[in-house]
Amino acid sequence: MSFQLPDMAPLLPWYEKNARDLPWRETRDPYRIWVSEIMLQQTRVEAVIRYYERFLSRLPDVRALAECPEDELLKLWEGLGYYSRVRNMQKAARVIMSEQGGTFPTTFAGVLALPGIGEYTAGAICSFAFDLPYPAVDGNVLRVAARLLNFEEDILAPASKKVLTAAVAAAQPKDSAAVFNQAMIELGATVCLPNGAPRCEACPVWGDCAARRAGREQELPVRKKPAPRKIEERTVLILRVEDRVALRKRPETGLLAGLFEPFSFSEALDKKAVAERLTAAGGFPLRVTPLGDAKHIFTHIEWRMTGFEVILGAENAETVCKNLDKSLFFAPRDEIDGQYALPSAYRAYRAFM
Ligand code: ADE
Repeated sequence: MSFQLPDMAPLLPWYEKNARDLPWRETRDPYRIWVSEIMLQQTRVEAVIRYYERFLSRLPDVRALAECPEDELLKLWEGLGYYSRVRNMQKAARVIMSEQGGTFPTTFAGVLALPGIGEYTAGAICSFAFDLPYPAVDGNVLRVAARLLNFEEDILAPASKKVLTAAVAAAQPKDSAAVFNQAMIELGATVCLPNGAPRCEACPVWGDCAARRAGREQELPVRKKPAPRKIEERTVLILRVEDRVALRKRPETGLLAGLFEPFSFSEALDKKAVAERLTAAGGFPLRVTPLGDAKHIFTHIEWRMTGFEVILGAENAETVCKNLDKSLFFAPRDEIDGQYALPSAYRAYRAFM
C-alpha cells in the first residue's frame, strides 16, 4: 500500500510567516547544523540554544572538535546527556580531519558514513546546508505525517518509518528541500503537537488532514509501549574530607562512559548499614548525613538512589576510599565545576559535592 501526503503547498508560506528565529537556521555551515541537530535529538529547543552557543564559541569548527581534550568535551556537553553522541561527533571530526583533509563531506552518502550520523541527521545536514533533496524525518515529522495520513500503525516500527519517510520524501519540493524540511519540523513542534493536543486551527493543511477529518487527531499517532525499564538501586556516598570530595571516572564504554561520579553501592542501604560498610573499609566516619532519595530515568534503566554525605577524618580518608574502590581520588570542591563532567543523574546531590 502506498501513502500520499496531501498537497503541502500551503506549508512553505506558513513557515515563512511563522518560523521561530533559531540560531542554527541562520547558517549553512554543515558543522554548525550538525552540532545543532545532535543536540536537538535529546533536548528542547529553548534549552539547546545556550549549549549551542557555548559549544560553538569554544569549538568553532571541525578541527577544534577533533583536537578537544576528552574531559573538556564532556564538560561542554554536561547537562545534555547521552554523552556517546558527542564522543561519536569527535570520532567523526577526526575522520574528517585525517581522511578528508578537514573538509566536511558534501554528499548524502559521505555524511551518512560518519560515526553517529543516521538517516535523519544526514538528511537534515544535507538539506539545510546544501539544499540536497533528502527528507529529514524525526519524531516531529513522523507524527505530522501519521496524522496527515490517518496512519493507524505503530509509528516507531521500522516498516512504519519506512512508509512515512517515503511519503514525506515524495511530498518534498526538490527545489526547496531545506525550507520544506524545516517547515515540517516546525509544524510538528509548534502546531501538530504530541499527546493529544494539536492546534489544528493554526495548521496550514488542516483541511486535508485525514486524521482530523476522521476525528482521530487526538488518538494518533499510535506508539507501542516500550519494554519497562530495568530498575537499579544505588546508595550514593558523597565522601568528603576537609574541602575535598571523592570522585571516580566511569569506564570508557557503556552508560555515562568517561564521566566522573561519586562512589555508590549497587543496593539500597540505610544509615546504619552505610556506617558499617565504612567501618569495614578501614575507618569510622566522623559524620553520616542522609541526603534523601532521588530518581534518574535513562532510556532503558531507572536509578533509584538514596544519598549520604560522609565526612571522613583526614587520617584515614585515603585508606577508606582505596578500600571502597581503588579508582577513587579526592578532588578539591572548587575545581569540580570547572574540570569534571558530572552526569545530571546526580543532580540531587550536587550541592553537597
Ligand atoms: N528539531 C530537530 N531539528 C530541528 C531544527 N532544525 N529546528 C528546530 N527544531 C528541531
